[in-house]
Amino acid sequence: MTIKIAGTGSALPNKIMTNKDLEQLVETSDEWIRERTGICERRIAQGDTVASLAATACERALANAGKKAEDVDLILVATCSPEQLLPCAACQVQSIIGAQKAVAFDLNAACSGFLFGLATAYSYITAGLYKNALVVGSEVLSKIVDWTDRGTCILFGDGAGAVYVEATEGPEGFIGFAQGSDGSKGSVLSCNERTDNPEEDIYVHMDGREVYKFATRQVPKCIVEAVDRSQLSLEDIDLFVLHQANTRIIESIAKQLKQDISKFPVNLPRVGNMSSATIPVLLDELNRDGKLQKGQKIVLSGFGAGLTYGACVLTWQ
Ligand code: ACO
Repeated sequence: MTIKIAGTGSALPNKIMTNKDLEQLVETSDEWIRERTGICERRIAQGDTVASLAATACERALANAGKKAEDVDLILVATCSPEQLLPCAACQVQSIIGAQKAVAFDLNAACSGFLFGLATAYSYITAGLYKNALVVGSEVLSKIVDWTDRGTCILFGDGAGAVYVEATEGPEGFIGFAQGSDGSKGSVLSCNERTDNPEEDIYVHMDGREVYKFATRQVPKCIVEAVDRSQLSLEDIDLFVLHQANTRIIESIAKQLKQDISKFPVNLPRVGNMSSATIPVLLDELNRDGKLQKGQKIVLSGFGAGLTYGACVLTWQ
């Protein structure tokens, strides 16, 4: 038994912030941001929350799958930017969409969170505990970004993506997973919790060069491991849907894997880095644009704070 993605959905805030807008906030330029990151614009929440964006993405994924909220068994929300510690965003989503019988909880593995959520859903469902799940990545990073720090504020955006997964006997669905964490490198990308102390530093801090090195060294190895575990070769893979952090990172990974860059779709120029939401939002866009074909072998791979990284392989249905 395995699981397959039977529906996808996403939700982006309406407000667009362009690189030109950022030129008004910090000393930067559209040219610098495009060249170093590939990003042109991103979406910024105005009243939207991690839970409200996640709920809309879930409703769209359920509609896409032709399923009802009341039949959902499990809701997993991957997020590193919830508005509230309690209740978790997943329980808020449960309430908003009316998934009364679902078990709901959050998990945080930063930009790898959606992938770790998929592996969690896979484990629960193949163990026989549940038959289906909504797995979501949702972030409102704009509230934990220091808008005076040009090294980080240019990178991030807000949004949510969700997939509805269900048990299947195949041949479609998930084949192999590979995951890893390196807690000794936690300080490379960090953010403190908000406290009552107005002096407290509560913003995202990043050593960009270290993140770049980590991603370009670790992710190709992790993808190869997941592909090996799936008893496939890299040439069998039709699409590599990677975490959208930076087009230079994606180009480097494609080169190391000796795969044509056309196999690596991107939406980063339009939406920026939405951490756990990047992979499910891109997957939903590809699905709705009719770019996913039955039988295609797809790699999903994420990497981020922790440090954490993961990859998985699936056959599209
Ligand atoms: N605009 C203009 N100049 C800038 C900006 C900016 N927004 N930010 C930094 N600079 C300047 C720096 O001050 C520095 O100036 P100096 O040479 O006078 O000291 C110069 O540009 C080079 O700075 P670097 O930090 O060395 O720039 P680099 O080429 O490494 O690019 C970047 C920075 C884009 C962050 C790069 O390190 C990177 O891509 N890292 C990966 C990090 C990433 O993608 N993080 C995403 C979040 S984590 C995740 O999702 C996994």
